Amino acid sequence: MSSKRAEFGSRLGVIAATVGSAVGLGNIWRFPYEAGTGGGAAFLLIYIVFVFVLGVPTICAEFSLGRFSRQGMPGAYSKTSGSRRWDFLGYASILAALMILAFYSVVAGWTLEYIIESVKSMFGDVDIADRHGAFTAFTGSWTAVVWTIVFLIINGLVMLGGVQKGIERVCNVLMPILFLILLAFSVNSLLMPGARQGLEFLFKPDFSALNAGVILSAMGQAFFSLSIGMGCMVTYASYFKDDTPLVRTSIEIAALDTLVAVMAGVIIFPAVFSFGMSPAEGPTLVFEVLPAIFHQMTGGPFWSLLFFVLLALASLTSIISVSEIVVTFLCDTLGWRRVKATVVLTLFTLVAATLCSLSFGPLRDLDLFNAFDFISSNILMPLCGLGVCVFVGWRMKRPEYEAQMRGRSRVPAWLFDTITFCLRYIAPVGILSVFIAGLM
Ligand code: PHE
Repeated sequence: MSSKRAEFGSRLGVIAATVGSAVGLGNIWRFPYEAGTGGGAAFLLIYIVFVFVLGVPTICAEFSLGRFSRQGMPGAYSKTSGSRRWDFLGYASILAALMILAFYSVVAGWTLEYIIESVKSMFGDVDIADRHGAFTAFTGSWTAVVWTIVFLIINGLVMLGGVQKGIERVCNVLMPILFLILLAFSVNSLLMPGARQGLEFLFKPDFSALNAGVILSAMGQAFFSLSIGMGCMVTYASYFKDDTPLVRTSIEIAALDTLVAVMAGVIIFPAVFSFGMSPAEGPTLVFEVLPAIFHQMTGGPFWSLLFFVLLALASLTSIISVSEIVVTFLCDTLGWRRVKATVVLTLFTLVAATLCSLSFGPLRDLDLFNAFDFISSNILMPLCGLGVCVFVGWRMKRPEYEAQMRGRSRVPAWLFDTITFCLRYIAPVGILSVFIAGLM
C-alpha cells in the first residue's frame, strides 16, 4: 500500500476533467427541456442563483474533503473525522453512482444510434414521418441495449488508463472539441430566422411561469448538472495536487457549466421557434424535436451528426467521472487493483444498464430506468449533498478546512467568508427543502 497515489498532471487537466464531469447530458439534454417547461428566462435566472449560492459552496466542501483526506468515498469521511459514524454517507454516494451509471449510460447509448442515423441520412433520405413511433420503437429494442454496452466498453477502456493517462488525457482532448462544436452551433443558430424569438424566450424573464415546483426543479437541475452530492468532486479532488486552488476551480466549473447550459439553450430555442415547434416538449426535445428540425435545415445531416457527437462526448466525460467514484472506492477501501475494479464495475453496470434499457420495452412494468433516476436524483443526491455540507461546515476541523480552501492561493477574505456562510447555513436549509419537496 506504499505506492504513491495518482495525481492529475496539470491544472488544465483538472479543469478539463471536472468540467468534463459537470458538462453532460444534464446541460445539453436536460437543461433545455427543464427551462422549456419552466418558462425559459425565469427558470434560467433562478437556476443561476442556485448554482452560485448552493453549488459553489458544495463543490468547495467536496474538494476540501477529498484533497484533505486523499481518499474517495467513504474513506474521506472516516479519515477526516476519525470515526466511522459518517461512512453511511459515503456508501449512499456509491449507491447513487451505481444507479446513475445504469440509467445515464442508456441515454448515452442512444446518442450512438443517432450518430449512425445522421451518417446514414447523408447518403439517403430517412423516413421521418413518425418520429415519435420510431423513437419509442428504438428505445425499447435490443439495438438500444447494444449501444449502451458499446458505450460502457469505451468507458471501461478509458478507466483502465488510470487518472492521468486515461481520464485526464481523454478529457484534455475531448473538452476543447466540445467547446468548438458548441461555438459552431451557437453561431449557426443565431443566424436563424427564429433567433430573436428563441433568445427572448431564454433571456427575457416572465415571472408568471414560476411556482414552487419550478424553483425546486431548478435546484435539482443545478445539483445534477454540477455533479455534486454524490462524491464525484470528492473523488476527483483526492487526486489534485497541493497547489490546485480550490475556490477558483469551483467558480470556474460553475461558470463554464452554466455557460454550456446557456449555449445549449441558445442552440436549441432559436431552432425550435424557427421551425414552429414548442419549447415545452419535455424530455424528448433533443431526441424527437431536434431531428425533425435538422431534417428541414440546409446541411441538416451534417449538423445532426455534429450535435450527437457533441452529446456523446459530453456523456463520456461525465460517465467516466461517475465510474471513478466506484473504482476509487474499490481500490482505496477494498484494496483492489485498478484493472480488477474496472472490469468488475463494467460487468456489473452492463447488467444494470441492460435492465434499465429494457424499461422502455419488455421490462416496462419494472421501470428501473425511472426508479434509479428518481432514487438517485431526488433522494440520494440531496441527502449526500446535505451530508457533505454539514460535515465540512460543522464537523471538519476549521484549520483543516481553511488550509484546503486558502491553500497557497490568495482567496479574498469576503469571498472565503461568504462561501463558508453559505456552506454552513444557506446550503443545508436550501437542500433540506429540496429533499422534502422532492419526496412529496
Ligand atoms: N453532471 C453530469 C451532467 O450534467 C451528470 C453527473 C451527475 C455526472 C453526477 C457525475 C455525477 O450530465
